[in-house]
Amino acid sequence: MDKFLITGGRPLEGQVAISGAKNAALPEMAAALLTNQGVILHNVPRVRDISTLRSLMEELGVDSSVTHEEHGNRVEIEARQLLNPLAPYELVKQMRASVLVLGPLVARFGHARVSLPGGCAIGARPVNLHLKGLEQLGATIKIEHGYIHAQSDGLKGTNFSFDVISVTGTENLMMAATLAEGETLLENAAREPEVQDLANLLNKMGAQIEGAGTGEIRIRGVSRLHGTEHSIIPDRIEAATFLVAAAITGGRLSVAWVEPTHLTAVMGKLAEAGVRIDKVAKPVGSLETRAILTAEGPTRLRAADVTTQEFPGFPTDMQAQYMALMTQAEGASVITETIFENRFLHALELARMGADIAVNGRRAVVHGRTPLSGAKTLASDLRASASLVLAGLAAEGETLIDRVYHIDRGYERIEEKLTRVGAKIRRVSGN
Ligand code: EPZ
Repeated sequence: MDKFLITGGRPLEGQVAISGAKNAALPEMAAALLTNQGVILHNVPRVRDISTLRSLMEELGVDSSVTHEEHGNRVEIEARQLLNPLAPYELVKQMRASVLVLGPLVARFGHARVSLPGGCAIGARPVNLHLKGLEQLGATIKIEHGYIHAQSDGLKGTNFSFDVISVTGTENLMMAATLAEGETLLENAAREPEVQDLANLLNKMGAQIEGAGTGEIRIRGVSRLHGTEHSIIPDRIEAATFLVAAAITGGRLSVAWVEPTHLTAVMGKLAEAGVRIDKVAKPVGSLETRAILTAEGPTRLRAADVTTQEFPGFPTDMQAQYMALMTQAEGASVITETIFENRFLHALELARMGADIAVNGRRAVVHGRTPLSGAKTLASDLRASASLVLAGLAAEGETLIDRVYHIDRGYERIEEKLTRVGAKIRRVSGN
């Protein structure tokens, strides 16, 4: 398994370009199953989760092609037919977002067998709301031998309210509802930018969706969808991770190709901690303005409490990275994780590097500032790995991070991007 070897203590300087959002690309690739025509996606990030979903598409008998473009990959998917409506355990266990093929398969082909994703390091990750919503749309759902068996003779529009806000739950049901007969109203829906970007793609494919980005999404079913072309939004979590990298190393980093409206909570929290962030709006192409955010680490970071919340609140996917930053801030900061029940595994590894963190249930108290010293560490999940990279960049001496396949799932060549702005980090291949 690959490892990262980092020598810390070097302020990062320069500019990094952000890749397309993994968590938008995944549902948008699944959306291609809703039509027999070609769907072309640009700015697809070169990360492992995308390759995993392409392998799953192959399993289904759906062709896809990838071409390298200046900014990310161009992925074309054409689901002319379905040879095998099975999403096997071997693939789904690698990436629980595989469950996103369920809604489109049931809506378009009337049946699907998808392995239950099972839990992961950060929590039980149930999909009960995905299934409850599909049943309310008229699908028959059976669970047998660890698989979801879904059948439908034609979905019917319904009003469905989510007991808890679910990002992929909202995405799955929104996709299924595009081909249902009649109108569907999703209440207590997720407002994440990735949900909005998916709705934009679906509407380009001929769907009739209103309200994406709010808690109430209305979908009027149509008989079929057609192919289209779409550029994926920037990855707000990658962008925020690099802003923290500037702050934690006391450097000055320009993060290019960013959508600032996706980062208001993070930018506000970093400003509270003393990080100076300037925004330069630059037109990229005719229709869209992407910005460059420049973050400058202060000499003294201030402790600032944070509570993770659904969008537009502070994202849970930035909690681990923020915890690493707070180990370098003066004072005590309280970090409350409201989304997942077990998302503090990185605290144990940070403590081995010298951090002073007390975890109690969904609350962690970080007592800073504590100098960090390099150590051998173990990555447990995607964002915990990013937290360890950030800590390694700030630590004195060498940090070795094992199991970096976790980070490869969601960050495109992070060691290359970091090296280009002055970090001393290299990938050590090995068993
Ligand atoms: C998405 O996961 C993201 N993944 C996660 O990013 C992100 O952390 C999460 O949303 C929260 O923002 C993708 O978009 C591919 P949820 P998802 O359903 O949809 C409970 C990363 O790092 N719940 O919004 O699986 C659930 O247990 C990943 O890129 C149910 O109870 O998360 C959790 O407590 C990690 N029943 C809460 O809702 C359900 O049927 C939010 O989960 C579904 C969810």
